This record gives sequence, C-alpha cells and structure tokens, in this order.
Amino acid sequence: MKKKKFDAYPPFLRVIRLAACASTNDYLANNHEQIEHDLPVLVTASEQTRGRGRHNREWVSKKGLGVYASFAFHLKNDKRLSFLPLAAGLAVIETLEAISAPKAGLKWPNDIMVEGKKIAGILIENKVFAERVFCIAGIGINLNHSPGDFPGELQDRATSLKLITGKAYEIETTNRILAHLFFSWLEKLKQGRQQEIAAKANEKSRFLLGKEIAFHQRDQIITGVFRGIHDNGGAIIEHPPGTFTIHHSGEITNIQP
Ligand code: BTN
Repeated sequence: MKKKKFDAYPPFLRVIRLAACASTNDYLANNHEQIEHDLPVLVTASEQTRGRGRHNREWVSKKGLGVYASFAFHLKNDKRLSFLPLAAGLAVIETLEAISAPKAGLKWPNDIMVEGKKIAGILIENKVFAERVFCIAGIGINLNHSPGDFPGELQDRATSLKLITGKAYEIETTNRILAHLFFSWLEKLKQGRQQEIAAKANEKSRFLLGKEIAFHQRDQIITGVFRGIHDNGGAIIEHPPGTFTIHHSGEITNIQP
C-alpha cells in the first residue's frame, strides 16, 4: 500500500479537494467551463450531501466512510467510449487489491462486488461536443462503513472493506492510488487497447459466468444466463436457451446463487 509511486497524485492531474459538496459529479458538471482548460481534473470530497448513484439512486456519502471522487477529462467520440465503464471498473478493482486484496469482481458494466455485495459504484456522465466528449467518471468506494451506515433496504446488498477485513482505511491514500490506476486504464483505452480491457473485464466477471440473472433494460426485465463480455464491451446474455444477445445498456439486477 505504501509504494512510492502512490505517495503523490499523478503530476499531470489537477486535484481539487473539497470538505463537502452536494456531489463531486455535479461540481464538475457545474464548473465545466472553468475547469475545461485544466483537464484532467479530479475532485474529491470528504462528504457529499447529495451523492448520486446510477438511475438517480442515493449514494451513502457520510464523512470518513468512503472515497467520493470524480475525474473529468476529454475523450474522442469514437467506439472506445463504450469501454470507459469497464476501464473505470478495473481501476477500482485494482485499487481495492492495492489496499487490501479482497476478491473483488466486476458486475457488468461497472458495479464492484465482494462476497456477493456491492462495495463500489461508478457513475459516468458524458457531454458530447461533436468529435470530443467531456467525460465525468464519479467513483464511490465503501471503505469504513458499519452495517448501520447503510439504509435498511441496502443492508443485505451493500458492504464495505472494513466489514470484510475488520480494518479501517485511509481515504486520502486510497484516492491517490485510485488516481494512478484510473489514468493507467484510461491510457490503455486511449491507445486503443480495448481487447485488453475486455479480456481483463471478463477475467474479473468470471464469478458471474453461467449464472442465471435478471437483466433490467429500460422497462423490460429479461431472465437469462450471463455468458461474458463481448469484444465490443457489451454483456452477452443467453435467452432463451441457445439464443445469444449483446447488450450495451442495462443492469444486472439479480443473480441466482
Ligand atoms: C452507482 O453504482 O450507482 C454509482 C455510484 C457512484 C457514486 C459516486 S461518489 C462520487 C460521485 N459523486 C456522486 O454523486 N456519485 C459518484
């Protein structure tokens, strides 16, 4: 955990540390014009008063419990963009491995799971300007939560590193490690190494292979079998038996044991 490389943030990154804000994603979106010339930018907050998850869900963001961090950067508007959620997910898994080595898995496209429960989540929000995309990748990692820190309905589905190992984790160190690993995966993406990203994402989602899942896409729920991540970054679902479809949006909402 104390590797020299991680003692400072990457030198090319502008870091804005906030004691509190509504949401680090919103901070970047609202200050888009001011920060645009300084990209890449990372905003971290010790707490968020309106932390958001995907599908407008609340993200528990109390002080001292977790990483609340958002990266802003530009990408070209091309097929590489659809691999950003996977690349960000892999950076989070490697961050968890660097600080604690739990067996973390990737639930397509970018939920991070340990022992069947969610430990980290990613909210990517892009603004497309013709050939260029302004990307915001917001990352929440549950580090020091106790069961009572999660609302009742999440207690069976969410976990934290402390709940798994019994230890407390330093947030600032974790933010720095995350910053290095995030840009290392982003660089692979920029270099067009999507196949490497898809291969690693498949390796990290092996725990889901062959499992029966419920897949939520818009207002439709499909029950099928997860068959991995396609070379184009989509989720491969078998439904009905013998028919394989590739999905580029949606969420795996239930996994049969
Ligand atoms: C999810 O899995 O639903 C995504 C959770 C993303 C949470 C992070 S915390 C930092 C950033 N700011 C937010 O309001 N949300 C993201």
